[in-house]
Amino acid sequence: MQHFQNHISFASTGGLSGGSARAAGHWQLDDIAFDQIQHEAIADNEDLFYLLMSASFVETGSDTYAANLAEHYSDYPEIAGWLRERWEAEELQHGAALRRYVEAVWPQFSWQQAYDSFFGEYSKLCTVEELNADRHLEMVARCVVETGTTAYYHTLREMSDEPVLRQLLGHIRNDEVNHFKHFLKYFKQLQEQSPVSRTRIAGALYARLKELRESDSDVALRHVFAHRGRYFADSGRQFADIAQRVYQLVSTQLPADLAVRMLLKPLLLPQRLESCLYSPISKFATRLMAA
Ligand SMILES: [Fe+2]
Ligand SMILES: [Fe+2]
Repeated sequence: MQHFQNHISFASTGGLSGGSARAAGHWQLDDIAFDQIQHEAIADNEDLFYLLMSASFVETGSDTYAANLAEHYSDYPEIAGWLRERWEAEELQHGAALRRYVEAVWPQFSWQQAYDSFFGEYSKLCTVEELNADRHLEMVARCVVETGTTAYYHTLREMSDEPVLRQLLGHIRNDEVNHFKHFLKYFKQLQEQSPVSRTRIAGALYARLKELRESDSDVALRHVFAHRGRYFADSGRQFADIAQRVYQLVSTQLPADLAVRMLLKPLLLPQRLESCLYSPISKFATRLMAA
């Protein structure tokens, strides 16, 4: 298990101001040296083929979700503005960068065709009804989701030997930490206006944490597998084996220590209590995610 907090500084991922993904200091697609990919270090990696392809689908599909979420917060112009101008643009940039990377490494994969079939199913899952009707609790759910993506990209980066990929995954992971910070900040603002109880917050945390297990990436993985064509076709593995393998890779390598630290933040506990709870909850979350 990596010491996640040593790799990520919560203070290093840019300011909290609005603006687009083109905001000063934010990385751009052109910053990634796609022409310097070391193909021999990645092309035969079946696990990363599935993990990166799935991630490129889910990130590219995030505009549907972002529009719904911004609509949900239309009574809160600062939040809705950040979601539309910054969050959506950054998630789409993750999708575009990952797509460019996987298309460079596995050029025979018909990305657009596979994505279209994925999106046909995925778009039906992204409706406003899927959001928590309580805007406070939806912010808590967003904190859980961004904790999940942070941990996911951190894990993928640890699994990667290819330098361009490591650079790209580092940028994406830092953006996800920054998203978490924004959602937490907005949650605190909402709590100041009209607090919801800690019991309800804990309930929302637990419910979303359980849902992470049946996540969007399962849908993506199915469509990647169906369109894999000649890639890894001769490994003879069935979809169930691949899904199991991918799930195990992600869950056993999750940096649970920092994930739990992030998850406890929305409870807004006094510092001493947070420290007391950290150890039992860490054990619980590790069991839940690795079960
Ligand atoms: Fe993302
Ligand atoms: Fe994010």
